[in-house]
Amino acid sequence: MALIAPSILSANFLKLSNDIHMINESQADWFHLDVMDGRFVPNISFGFPVIAAIKKEARKTLDVHLMIEEPGKYAEEFRNAGADILSVHIEACPHLHRNLQQIKSLGMQAGVAINPHTPVQHMFDVLHDIDVVCMMSVNPGFGGQKFIAHTIEKIKTLKAEIVRRGLSTLIEIDGGVTLENASSIIAAGADVLVAGNTVFSTSDPSDTIAKLKAM
Ligand code: DX5
Ligand code: ZN
Repeated sequence: MALIAPSILSANFLKLSNDIHMINESQADWFHLDVMDGRFVPNISFGFPVIAAIKKEARKTLDVHLMIEEPGKYAEEFRNAGADILSVHIEACPHLHRNLQQIKSLGMQAGVAINPHTPVQHMFDVLHDIDVVCMMSVNPGFGGQKFIAHTIEKIKTLKAEIVRRGLSTLIEIDGGVTLENASSIIAAGADVLVAGNTVFSTSDPSDTIAKLKAM
């Protein structure tokens, strides 16, 4: 049974309170919040004021996925806005170890997000410092894209390394997760499923979360 992290990117921003309440009452485990800067990815989403507002109503872990350049500049502000887990992209961090230490020293759990083209082996030397690997199974920037099949192999490779070293690092899969592919993603070794379109495009999002949870 995986942890489920609905992505707010696909929520109704005009009635965000309703969707936050729905997630609070559902079997979801985390809120997944996608921050985009229009530079690291070709899209802009939301930032501090929206996260701080969500924090006031959310009763579950805030999992903040930064798709931004120079994330270290803003880590403290994201902590102040309410982030519990802060993920930075390995492709945006030439000094990744320093970023991880900074995030932990601010009292958050440290996540590393990784693009589809980046080998998972690139994070092995800091794996023991990573609480959550946010493995992208689409190219980051947009919700509602198709799952990239090769991700399954990457999950297996990463899981084998985590098990071999006896680490507690969680593998989170982000992008294109559906009711059809969720079980094979979990079977490959995923611990956390992000779901945006799959949850919010259905008439009963809470029931869809329950179905994902039961996989
Ligand atoms: C994509 C984001 C994802 C996105 C997932 O850049 O990181 O979190 O919201 O959306 P779906 O589940 O619709 O692919
Ligand atoms: Zn994300």
